[in-house]
Formats: sequence, structure tokens, C-alpha cells
Amino acid sequence: MSAAVWRESEPPRRGGRTPDAPLKSRFKSPPGLPEIGEEEGDDVDSATSIRSIGVCGIGQMGSGAAVCYKRAGYRVLLWDQDERKLDSARGRLDALESWLDDHVGPPSASGGEYRLAADLREIDDEADLAMDCIVEDMDRKVQLLLSLAGAVRRKALFITTTSGLGITRMGRESGTSELLVGTHFWNPPHLMPLVEVVRGENTPAEVVDRVVALIESIGKIPVRVNRDVPGFIGNRLLHALWREAIHLVQTGVASPEDVDRVARLTFGLRALAVGPLENMDLVGLDLIKRIHEYLLADLSAASAPLEELERLVERQDLGVKTGKGFYDWRVRDGKEAIDRRDRQIVRQLAFLKELEDR
Ligand SMILES: NC(=O)c1ccc[n+]([C@@H]2O[C@H](COP(=O)([O-])OP(=O)(O)OC[C@H]3O[C@@H](n4cnc5c(N)ncnc54)[C@H](O)[C@@H]3O)[C@@H](O)[C@H]2O)c1
Repeated sequence: MSAAVWRESEPPRRGGRTPDAPLKSRFKSPPGLPEIGEEEGDDVDSATSIRSIGVCGIGQMGSGAAVCYKRAGYRVLLWDQDERKLDSARGRLDALESWLDDHVGPPSASGGEYRLAADLREIDDEADLAMDCIVEDMDRKVQLLLSLAGAVRRKALFITTTSGLGITRMGRESGTSELLVGTHFWNPPHLMPLVEVVRGENTPAEVVDRVVALIESIGKIPVRVNRDVPGFIGNRLLHALWREAIHLVQTGVASPEDVDRVARLTFGLRALAVGPLENMDLVGLDLIKRIHEYLLADLSAASAPLEELERLVERQDLGVKTGKGFYDWRVRDGKEAIDRRDRQIVRQLAFLKELEDR
């Protein structure tokens, strides 16, 4: 297929964003930290010198991230090994954009553009930063980075949206150690406000700083992960919870519906306002200690996928995509669940904005 371009208006000047693009994030930093967008050197033009971003793999995460970059004024090159993904990209990106226009508001900057790259070489030759959004497989990610040798020579930056694979190992095996940073976007990436920025053991601090500035420039909140541990911060927390949720179902303590109901309508309800550690302080640490003394030994400490999960996957009950998982999606509406999730995120973002304005 041939490369195609569609753009909103004129591209921003080389090296940065259009003058009307806000440099301040929509959200406040935690107390004691500088306001996002007010740190020294946070002028995106000088801090990142990134104008064009090559997104490799335009599935769920790549498409959502591409939309964020384009709406912040960047030139986005899109490539996927699957031609069908390229052929359908425009429709998917336009749909995401019009959803954002309707539910969130207009883009923060003009001048962003997409270009479909029929060949990875276009990204290798041109992108100031290449983003890995392909399948969660170390060998294939390393292969992808190895095929961007020209970009390495040009000292372009590399980021990966791996859910938790080692950044240090990925960098070492691909020869990108000094240019590679983990950027763990959350799903749906066009809405979720936070990105974990993970430094590999050999990533220089200034490279991490440039990536932090990039993430701020698209209006997201970067959180620095100082040590490259599997799952970073968020997926360690989330999968500890998900392991226990599966364990409760597997051991017959409650149905999937009731486990989900408890999570959504108890601690889930307050999670946006107070994080777990702050919440523990509110409760009182003496009580937490007393509960841990009898409870922790009874929680799942499985170090491999639980039997219930193995059984479902074995039967190809993979969730919405195959019609069945913990729930029967032939009678439930997966699209409605995603729409409900996305509308709720938008409302919660408005609540975060309210906290910021207070
Ligand atoms: N889906 C999530 O909730 C989520 C959240 C955070 C991070 N991630 C991570 O983001 C990455 C992408 O996940 P996704 O959910 O977007 O996957 P996806 O399956 O939706 O998209 C992956 C895309 O990469 C392409 N691809 C696969 N292998 C390739 C290769 N070797 N070369 C080029 N293109 C290739 C596929 O054609 C597909 O279009 C993974 O590392 C995943 O762990 C996913």
C-alpha cells in the first residue's frame, strides 16, 4: 500500500510544538513536587527536540498513543507488519479522534499529522523517536529494535510500551541501551492520564528527562520508575489484585460477578481520591498490621498462573474476543462495557480537574 498523509493544518515548527500548545499539564503534581510543566527546562521544544514520532505496531496501544501525539502537534509515522492494520488505521484513528472531540474536547495543539509508513525504513530514516507497541514478546521487540539500526546511528530516542518486560535486557540485546526508555501507557491510552517512565540500568538520566518532557508535552503525567523491576509499579499492584480475584473464584468463595461488584463498589470507588498508602494512613497503621498478621498467610502467593486461568485459556475462553471468559460475552455486550468504562474515565478526569482547581 502507498504511504498517505492527512493533517489538520500546518505542521508545527521544527523541533517542537505550535505556540498555542499548553505546556502545563491538566493536573497538579503531588505536594512537594514542582508543578508539571513548570520545571526547569520544561519547554518541550528545547527539552525533547522531537518533531516526528514513529509508532511501530498500531493495535490498541499504538493507535491510542498515536492519537495523543498527533493531537499534541506531533508528526506521527505509523507502521505495522500487518498490512490490514495499516489499511484500517485511518478509520480507527478518526473514530478515536471524534470520540475525543465529542467527550473530552478539541486537540491541545494544531498541526499534528499522521503518515502511514509502508516500510519500517521510513521510521528508521526519519523518526526523532521510535515507539515499540508490538506484541508483548521480548525476542520480537528486540528484533524490531535491531531493525532500526539507522535510527540508532542517528541517536534517535526509543521508547517501549511493554507491560513489564525488562528495559535493561531489551536495551542490551538490541544495542539501544543508551537510547531506550520504558513508557508504560495504560489502556485506553488516549484517555488514561498517567504513563510510567522506566529507566533501564544503562539509560542516561538526560535521555529519561527527554522522555519525561515528551510525556508532559502530550498532557500526561509521567511517573518515574527508578528501578527496572518486572511489571513496574502499576502492573505489580494490579496483578496482585487480579491473582487474588481469580483465587477467590477458583476456591468458590464468590462468583465473578460478586468479586467484581465488591472491587468496584468498595475500594474501587475511593481509589481515585486516595491511594493505598495514603488510605492506610487514614485507617491507622496499627490496624493494618493486626489484619496483616492473620490475613497475609491466607492470600494467594501463587508464582505461576492459577489453574482457573490456565483452564479458561486452554479452552480458548479468552474473554470478549472469543465470546467467553469469566463472563459469557455472547449475552453481555463487550462494546457497551468499553463505552461505559471510557465514559466513566472521562467523568473521573473531570473530578481530577476539580481537585486541581481547588
Ligand atoms: N492492551 C493493553 O491493555 C496494554 C496496556 C499496556 C501496555 N500494553 C503493551 O503494549 C504492547 C502492545 O499491546 P496491544 O494491546 O496494543 O497489542 P495489539 O495486539 O492490539 O497490537 C499489536 C500490534 O503489533 C503488531 N505486531 C505484532 N508483532 C509485530 C512485529 N513483530 N512487528 C511489527 N508489528 C507487530 C500487530 O499486527 C498489532 O497491530 C504490548 O507490549 C503490551 O504488553 C498493552
